[in-house]
This record gives sequence, structure tokens and C-alpha cells, in this order.
Amino acid sequence: MSADRATAPAPGTASVTVRAPAKVNVQLAVGGRRADGFHALATVFHAVSLYDEVTASTLPASASGEQGTVRITVSGADAAQVPTDGDNLAARAATLLARRAGVPGAVHLHIAKDIPVAGGMAGGSADAAAALLACDRLWGLDTPRATLLELAAELGSDVPFSLVGGTALGTGRGERLTPVEVGGTLHWVFAVADGGLSTPAVYAECDRLRRTDGGGDGEADVPAPEAAPELLAALRAGDAKAVGAALANDLQPAALSLRPALAATLRAGREAGALGALVSGSGPTCAFLAEDAEAAGRLATALEASGTCRAARTATGEVPGAVLLAAADSP
Ligand code: C5P
Repeated sequence: MSADRATAPAPGTASVTVRAPAKVNVQLAVGGRRADGFHALATVFHAVSLYDEVTASTLPASASGEQGTVRITVSGADAAQVPTDGDNLAARAATLLARRAGVPGAVHLHIAKDIPVAGGMAGGSADAAAALLACDRLWGLDTPRATLLELAAELGSDVPFSLVGGTALGTGRGERLTPVEVGGTLHWVFAVADGGLSTPAVYAECDRLRRTDGGGDGEADVPAPEAAPELLAALRAGDAKAVGAALANDLQPAALSLRPALAATLRAGREAGALGALVSGSGPTCAFLAEDAEAAGRLATALEASGTCRAARTATGEVPGAVLLAAADSP
């Protein structure tokens, strides 16, 4: 990952670096739209070894005159696509924590971005989770874990999982988590697309397809989402072949409808021997499961050669959620 001068805190400032992982939903069962506009979900989140790092450092006095100033800088290949204003989820996390704790909250957040942007891999949620932990430590708050999880859920449906990591069943709108046991390391390849997809647009397309294809009441007929027992059993056994066969994403038809070219990406991965293939979350990243590290390497090479994606990245899961990497205190 490219270093940036902004990652190095100025002398006399304190800084804290936290790393948070990307996720793939090995199952994403989408129920009906709730009264609050969110969809009821039963989703199996799985954290994988692609990471963003967030460094929180104290702003120099000259820049922190205003209460609650959050300065955002971003490095990495896709840095230009990341908002650096108050819309940035990491900035919102810092502001929310400061408000809740009653501290001034002036901070510089540097995001070293490696997770695909708007790719369906919870990159923004990872940054928010990392910012919560980093600011909590920087400001010496020692916020209880339960409160951090509450704040995370306020920020977004996937943010609690980015804090927790591992593999977990998400219910509600995805924010209520129960750990899921996984009996071995899973080897993944992620085909990164050019450009992102908007999550609200993909959910809206899912609703539209259900109204059009379902006939009758459409959305009203959608059954309550449930985790698939065969997937949970395959995960517990660490049986990659069975996990591959059980991968399922109810948002996939909507993502394919908005981005038809993804069908060719999925096909290329299957033809190259993937044990299973699906769109990751709301897409457009496609996820492929491989037997072992060697097979994943071969699959990544084949996907890049197919010309159906911008890049193919290998990763393993599960990995932990947001973790503290470094803390340097001012003298
Ligand atoms: O919670 P988050 O901010 O990540 O959600 C982004 C958008 O995705 C929501 O505004 C909503 O349109 C859609 N969404 C949904 N149901 C969920 C999660 C997200 O409809 N369970």
C-alpha cells in the first residue's frame, strides 16, 4: 500500500492506527422492506484479509480552533473516489463518538485504502469501525464495547460486523450479530470491477424486480429471511466444496440487472474452476471460493486474463475485526 506523508503525525502529536477488514456475505437473504425503509436480512458475514487502515491523530492547534473539526486524507489506488467531507463514514464515526462522549472531537483521520470503494465489501463500514476504535483510544475514552457496537449500528448496518469480524449471522437490518463457527481457512478470489454500485440503488432494483417478476403483491409476498442450515453446516465442517455450493445472494439478480457485464465475470470464474461464485453484498465485486491457496492463485490469474474484471485479489477468511496496530503518545 502506498505510504502518504499525511500518515506520519507531526512531532508532538499523538496518533493511533487501527486496521479493519473487508467482508463478503456468504449468504445474503433479503426479506421485505420494513417501515423504516431498510430490508429485513438474514446474512452470514465473513471477514477477509483485505484491509483499510485508519490513523487518528490530534490536529495541530492552528487547525483545531473549531469544535468538532475532522480532517480526512486518503491514500491508495482508489483514493480519489473516497469523499473527504462530512459524508465520509469515518468522519461521521468520529463526530458521533465525540458528541456521545462530550469531547471536542477535533481529529485528523488518514485512511490508507485497500478495500475496493463502493464494491460491496463494506470498505466504508471498515473505515467507520476503525475510526471509532482509533478515536476512542486517542481521546482516552475507554468506551464500553456494547456502546461502541450501538454507535456502530447507528452509523450503518454493516459497521458492527466490521468491529467484530470473524464470521457471524446478521439479522434485523444486518446489525444484530451472532457468531458462526468456521472449521478452517477459506481461500477467496475477489474480482474487482471498474466503478462501484450504490447500495440503495441495488436494494431498490431488488424491490423493483420482485414487483415485476413476482406478480401479485410482489414485496408483500417475500418470506422472512433465514440462514441456510446446509451453509452453516458446511462452514462448521470447514468444507470448502460444500460452502461453495451453498453460496447465495438475493441481491445478485439486482446487481446483474444494473451491471449485466458481471454475468461474464461470474462465468469466467466458474469456468476457471471456482468451487462457488457470487456477487459480494450489493456488488459489483464478485467473490470466488477456491480449494486452497494455490488454486486461488491460479483462479486470480485466469480471471485477470479473462478481461472481465479490473483486477483479481486473493484473500483468506476468516480474520478478526478492527484491531489496534499502533499508538504513539505525545510527549
Ligand atoms: O445501513 P447502511 O447505511 O449501510 O445502508 C445503506 C442503504 O442500503 C440503506 O439506505 C438502504 O437503502 C439499504 N439497506 C436496506 N436494508 C438493509 C441494509 C441496507 O435496504 N438491511
